[in-house]
Amino acid sequence: ISPPNEHIVLNEPWQPWWQRYQPISYNLCSRSGNEEEFIDMVTRCNNVGVNIYADVIINHMSGSSGGEGNHSSCGSWFSASKKDFPSVPYSAWDFNSNKCKTRNGDIENYGDIFQVRDCQLVSLLDLALEKNYVRSKVAEYMNRLIDLGVAGFRMDACKHMWPGDLENVYGRLHNLSLRWFPNGSRPFIFQE
Ligand SMILES: *[C@@H]1O[C@H](CO)[C@@H](O)[C@H](O)[C@H]1NC(C)=O
Ligand SMILES: *[C@@H]1O[C@H](CO)[C@@H](O)[C@H](O)[C@H]1NC(C)=O
Ligand SMILES: *[C@@H]1O[C@H](CO)[C@@H](O)[C@H](O)[C@H]1NC(C)=O
Repeated sequence: ISPPNEHIVLNEPWQPWWQRYQPISYNLCSRSGNEEEFIDMVTRCNNVGVNIYADVIINHMSGSSGGEGNHSSCGSWFSASKKDFPSVPYSAWDFNSNKCKTRNGDIENYGDIFQVRDCQLVSLLDLALEKNYVRSKVAEYMNRLIDLGVAGFRMDACKHMWPGDLENVYGRLHNLSLRWFPNGSRPFIFQE
């Protein structure tokens, strides 16, 4: 399924598909529906043997030029310019701005692994996944999905994250829900 979390709402161009790849928070309300509808879908699908795996974005939040206001799929306030996402909450020091060495903070050279993993992918605000706090917030989000019955994840933008950071996050994940899955089942992980 498409990313189920809260995302930016863009008007220019009008609500493009890729707005769902600009997270604003980990609240479960997206263009596809709200939390109650999400829980209902996962429950009904699992009950007839259809397992769900969710597209999740943990590399970044919205684009740096995403503005400030409540233009998000649940109406939560955020400020891309101040790197402030109070519904998570993340603030400026949860991003990689100080690690990236390029002039404008974006990836300029795809041959440089430090740029590819520490700088902004097309201006998307790059989360500092080496921080325990950031790891704990993304794992909390993924564990909420697991506990609701999700069977795995399509990890967006893996090339842009350090393998050790991903390993740490995966190590925090719960086993799948005993309501539908055998004891000890691990989430299925597909890395973009
Ligand atoms: C904007 O979001 C904040 C919380 O994120 C909320 O308190 C406020 O009421 C919202 N404003 C509008 C106009 O929806
Ligand atoms: C799941 O397996 C663990 C370890 O084998 C065991 O301790 C636990 O009681 C089991 N849980 C259930 C609900 O069967
Ligand atoms: C997953 O289940 C296995 C087998 O029951 C157990 O040994 C392990 O501790 C569980 N892991 C987590 C993160 O709950």
